Amino acid sequence: MQLEDIAAIKKVEEEAWEQLQKTILYYQGRPVGTVAALDGSVDSLNYDQCFVRDFASSALLFLIKGQTDIVRNFLEETLKLQPKNNQLDAYKPGQGIMPASFKVVSRDGEEYLEADFGEHAIARVTPIDSCFWWLIILRAYVVATKDYSLVYQPEFQKGIGLILELCLATRFDMYPTLLVPDGACMIDRRLGIYGHPLEIQSLFYAALRAAREMLICHGNQDLVIAIDNRLPILRAHIRKHYWIDIKRLNAIYRYKGEEYGKEAINQFNIYVDSLPYYELDKWLPKKGGYLAGNVGPSQLDTRFFSLGNLMAIICDLATEEQSQAIMTLIEKRWEDLVGNMPMKITFPALENEEYRLITGCDPKNIPWSYHNGGSWPVLMWMLAAAAIKTNRVCIAERAISVAQLRLQEDEWPEYYDGKRGRLIGKQARKYQTWTIAGLLLAKEMIKEPSNLSLVNFEPFTIEEASRACEFEIDSFDA
Ligand code: GLC
Repeated sequence: MQLEDIAAIKKVEEEAWEQLQKTILYYQGRPVGTVAALDGSVDSLNYDQCFVRDFASSALLFLIKGQTDIVRNFLEETLKLQPKNNQLDAYKPGQGIMPASFKVVSRDGEEYLEADFGEHAIARVTPIDSCFWWLIILRAYVVATKDYSLVYQPEFQKGIGLILELCLATRFDMYPTLLVPDGACMIDRRLGIYGHPLEIQSLFYAALRAAREMLICHGNQDLVIAIDNRLPILRAHIRKHYWIDIKRLNAIYRYKGEEYGKEAINQFNIYVDSLPYYELDKWLPKKGGYLAGNVGPSQLDTRFFSLGNLMAIICDLATEEQSQAIMTLIEKRWEDLVGNMPMKITFPALENEEYRLITGCDPKNIPWSYHNGGSWPVLMWMLAAAAIKTNRVCIAERAISVAQLRLQEDEWPEYYDGKRGRLIGKQARKYQTWTIAGLLLAKEMIKEPSNLSLVNFEPFTIEEASRACEFEIDSFDA
């Protein structure tokens, strides 16, 4: 690398750090989070708030840099915002849910935190992923600080328990996956991801793993048993029913419909004509594969969703073989999935009639824009983490080198548009915090791969988990 390049990259990092510090949100004199964006040129809407999902990138970075206070404060304050009782009013947030975002408001000279559980958000979408990101951040805090005293506090144990009760409750649905409405995650607009979208399932799996490590077994036996029962079947269900590679496509291509009873092979009654199998036949590399976007009755959404796939690798939801195949797919379909800006949130975009029907003619989600095939730099840290986990660091290095100089030049946009990610997003904010944190975090992970431990989960065995419980009981008794 040329000396000027090294200097330019150093400048990018310095500026990114400086910008990130400016995004810190203070409450009663203490740092409690980061705002979503600091773009002074447009109406801030709710981008001046701290979003739980957005803060995950900043939190991991702060933990790596030893700025643990802000993360601790965030966890304590957001915990207080979690409703502890069920409301009679169905429009009010239910017990256990975590807010999408919060802001600091001043009344009569005093500061308060005001949470938004989706009741102010565009289209009133429910932030189901917030609970999961909160647990992932909490567990990362414990990994980084080795300080269990926070998480063993009764308030934290209760908060974890309420989240678990909410998502492990008996429901109408009979899948191990979680049934959610559209727009319940990073893609917080209508995009045909209602039902059992992959992103929610990957985060749900990671959150259950995190909770299992942090929950004191003593007194929480019912929850522990519920997690231990759910984890293996959730994992098996995703690995089997969501997986797509050329071998599986061949099997699906010859599926018969209308099979009744236990012996049915085509359990979800997928009609082959609903799949773009000719495109997939061309697109799928020999050794590549990925987890589908959604599986449900007569539904197999074959779009590639980055966050769900990358998190599935990181939290060990995908098998080792599947993880390698996902990385191979990214490598072989680089132009489509990474192109000029890592990386596409989903591929391919919905176009024409599909776009109109599925997005409800959303002008922000036109084909190859925003959530509908746009490129989101924040995904870079997940790509880096997945690359470390699968021992394919070159993929992440290549992605970072594509992005870093351009991001600074373009003033840290929220997202990019176009089939190759060459256009700055039509309505993208500049100085978007998770764009800045995403790049820095990816770089920190590559520089020190052991940072992966903040989000990584090893293969789960119930025996090991039970041993951890016994150890914990022993240490409590002592
Ligand atoms: C957009 C994104 C959402 C993000 C929010 C704040 O609504 O879709 O995922 O949390 O902006 O950055």
